[in-house]
Amino acid sequence: MATPHITGPQSQPPSPELRPGGSDARPSLADARAEGAHPPHAQRVRRHPVITGRLQAIARGEVVPTETHPALAGEEAVLEIDHFSLWYGSKQALFDICLRIPRGKVTALIGPSGCGKSTLLRSVNRLNDLIHGVRQAGDMRLNGDSIYDRSVDVIELRKRMGMVFQKSNPFPMSIFENVVYPLRIDGVRDRQLLAEVCERSLRGAALWDEVKDRLHENALELSGGQQQRLCIARAIAAEPEVLLMDEPCSALDPLATGKIEDLMRELRGNYSVLIVTHNMQQASRTADYTAFMYLGQVIEYGPTTDIFTKPFVKDTEDYVTGRFG
Ligand SMILES: Nc1ncnc2c1ncn2[C@@H]1O[C@H](COP(=O)(O)OP(=O)(O)OP(=O)(O)O)[C@@H](O)[C@H]1O
Ligand SMILES: [Mg+2]
Repeated sequence: MATPHITGPQSQPPSPELRPGGSDARPSLADARAEGAHPPHAQRVRRHPVITGRLQAIARGEVVPTETHPALAGEEAVLEIDHFSLWYGSKQALFDICLRIPRGKVTALIGPSGCGKSTLLRSVNRLNDLIHGVRQAGDMRLNGDSIYDRSVDVIELRKRMGMVFQKSNPFPMSIFENVVYPLRIDGVRDRQLLAEVCERSLRGAALWDEVKDRLHENALELSGGQQQRLCIARAIAAEPEVLLMDEPCSALDPLATGKIEDLMRELRGNYSVLIVTHNMQQASRTADYTAFMYLGQVIEYGPTTDIFTKPFVKDTEDYVTGRFG
C-alpha cells in the first residue's frame, strides 16, 4: 500500500467573500504564497495574518475551508480525517473535518471549550459509537485502513490506538499488571516477554526509575502524576499506531505536567501523538503541528511555531493571543 502523503487538498485559497476587500486590504493568501516563493522579497513585504472573517462566516452558518500550511505537504500521514462530520442527535458537532495527522510527530488540537476537540479525538477510536443518537459522515483512515467502514472490527481497531484521558484511569491491580494489560487480553503469557514490555513501556513513559522496586504494589497508591504516566505506559505497551491524549495534564500540578511534557518530546519520532490541550504554552512546548478548532470546524492547521507567531488567519491569531475563547 502506498504511504499516504499529506498534500493538503483542503488548503485552497479563501473564497472571495472571506478575503479582505477595499484599497487598504491586506494581501491575499495567494499573494502571501507567491511572496513565499521569493524569500528575500517576502521578508520585506510578507505580513500575517492575511485571511479574515472566518468566524463571522461560521456564525452565518457557513462551512469554511481549513487553511492548511504548505509545510504539511512534506509529511507522511499516519491518520487521515476525510470530510468527517458528526451529529449528537439533531445537533451537529463536527463539520466536514479534513486533517492529515503526520507520522512520528506530536499534533495538538486547540480551541475554545465546546468546539469539538474531544469529540474529534474520540471519533478516531470510535468511542462516540457508544453514545445514543450519534451519527457520522465521512471517514477516517489509520495507515490507509478505513476506520468507519461497516466491515471494521471496532475491538481490533481500538487495539491499534492508545488513548489517555484527562483523568488517569489505572486499574485496581499492580503497576506491572496495569502496564501489561493490553498483552494479557491478547493472551500473552510469556513471563519474560511481559517483563520486557513492562520495563520498556515504563521507561518510555519516564516512570521506570520511580517504580522499578515496587512493580507489584497497587497502582492506585501512586501519585496523580505517576498514575497518568502509568496510563501512558499502558497505552504505549501495545505499540499503538497513534496515541490519542485528551488534556492529559489538566489534573496535574506543574511538576507532573513538566514530566509529561518532557515525555511527549521524547515520544516524538517513535510515536504519532494527537493531543487535545487547553494550555497554549503546552501546545507550543510539545507539539510539532497545531490545529485550531472553532465551533466544530478546523480553522487553521500548520507548524506550531507558525500557528503561534505568524498564522495565516486573523481569528487564529486572536485566539492564540487570548483575545477570545
Ligand atoms: N454526549 C454528548 N451528547 C450531546 N452533545 C455532546 C456530547 N458530548 C459533547 N457534546 C456537545 O458537542 C460539542 C463539542 O463538545 P466537546 O466535548 O467535543 O468539546 P471540547 O472542545 O472537547 O470542549 P472542552 O474544551 O470543554 O473539553 C459541545 O457543544 C458539546 O455540548
Ligand atoms: Mg474536551
